[in-house]
Amino acid sequence: METHYISIRQAMKQGKGKVAVRGWLYRERGSNNLKFIVLRDSTDIIQCVLAKEKLEKQWPEIDKLLIESSVEIEGEVKEDKRAPTGYEIDVDKITIVQAAEPFPIQKDQSAEFLADNRHLWLRSRKMTSILKIRSTVFGAIDEYFRGEGFYEYHSPIFQAVQCEGGSTLFNVDYFGKKGVFLAQTWQLYAEPAIFALEKIYTIAPSFRAEASKTSRHLTEYWHAEMEVAWAEFDDIISYGEGVIKHVVKKVLEKNQDELKILGRDIKKLEPTVHKKFPRTTYDDMLKLLKEKHKLDIPWGKDLRTIEEDYISEEYDTPVCVTRYPKEVKAFYMKEDPKNPDVVLGVDFIAPEHYGEIIGGSERESDPEKITKRLIEMGEKPEQYSFYLDTRKYGSVPHGGFGMGVERLISWICGLDNIKDAIPFPRTMIRWKP
Ligand code: 4AD
Ligand code: MG
Repeated sequence: METHYISIRQAMKQGKGKVAVRGWLYRERGSNNLKFIVLRDSTDIIQCVLAKEKLEKQWPEIDKLLIESSVEIEGEVKEDKRAPTGYEIDVDKITIVQAAEPFPIQKDQSAEFLADNRHLWLRSRKMTSILKIRSTVFGAIDEYFRGEGFYEYHSPIFQAVQCEGGSTLFNVDYFGKKGVFLAQTWQLYAEPAIFALEKIYTIAPSFRAEASKTSRHLTEYWHAEMEVAWAEFDDIISYGEGVIKHVVKKVLEKNQDELKILGRDIKKLEPTVHKKFPRTTYDDMLKLLKEKHKLDIPWGKDLRTIEEDYISEEYDTPVCVTRYPKEVKAFYMKEDPKNPDVVLGVDFIAPEHYGEIIGGSERESDPEKITKRLIEMGEKPEQYSFYLDTRKYGSVPHGGFGMGVERLISWICGLDNIKDAIPFPRTMIRWKP
């Protein structure tokens, strides 16, 4: 009869009697007659005890087993307060699937070494926990938008336009042709589709040639974006608040164990689920920075990391900062009808110094204003004719936003660096393995 393997989590739930489990050696120590291993699978870890007298024939191999070896085990599970997770398996049978070579990752290794061995470091409890939370986050984003009646829609990754400024474009050698870039955003190819589908979203990779080495920037990140027809500025902000609330709620429901392994203080996340996010303006933030931090930012300057960090200290939920000066924001953002110097754009700034997690806006409806701004930026409006057409054939008020999924994960998990929010991070200085 074929052995029926259960997960380590299930084995502990069962708590007594015969079980069969399989996984990898997480820790091992031995004496002449006994070997203790801690076995790991995707669900948990459990201590297993192997006795020489029971496993005499295999003992030479068992004695030499190193961490990360893969094994199948059958035995008797029982509670044991001294074991790392409160249970222990007394092993009757072990099959060594592969006896591992000495594992390169030992204790206290440098961040650089761990990055070079990322493919192996993914097995760590830290990375496993983050990856589980990441999976919840992606699922919750889909669930939120589909629940609100959005269609999933996809833009091309090869694009012949820029949307978020020329300085962070990645050029592609497209059969020797120039002027082809990797997507910075789905947006310019999403707006045409709202006339067909009205409410759309995506989660896709975006690319930014960020020459800065910060704890918040990747060159390749996952971007959750939405675009919606017939929507005004406040509606767009409400969707942003809605999706963040839903994601955090789901992580708190599903990932308590992982948050604990990461040492995350969940009290820092709870207000986001229950409290309304404050909505404020750029002007009010300049006042705050001046009065509280003696920072005299001239009107018209963009907010930098340091300013965003001071702002985040004021709130225990993300804060929505609106109405930035036109010059610091993208060409497609709508002029505020009440004040043409500012745009109906919003940045959601996360608590605890995690920076901007959402950027969005209502979209400018006047094709002449868009054309003028493109020319000011040195762009050729002809390249954007497909986009300008959206304003000519039944234009409607609309807008959307983009959320940096790794920024959101970084904050939820309380990570030191955004690089740990993605399995294989890409930055200016890291594109391997
Ligand atoms: O503010 P951004 O540049 O906005 C856009 O791309 C719009 N077209 C989105 C839209 O309206 N559909 O980027 C959106 C978000 C930022 O708020 C940030 O969270 C994230 O993308 N982001 C990055 N995340 C990681 N690494 C980078 N280099 C990022 N650049 C932006
Ligand atoms: Mg932005």
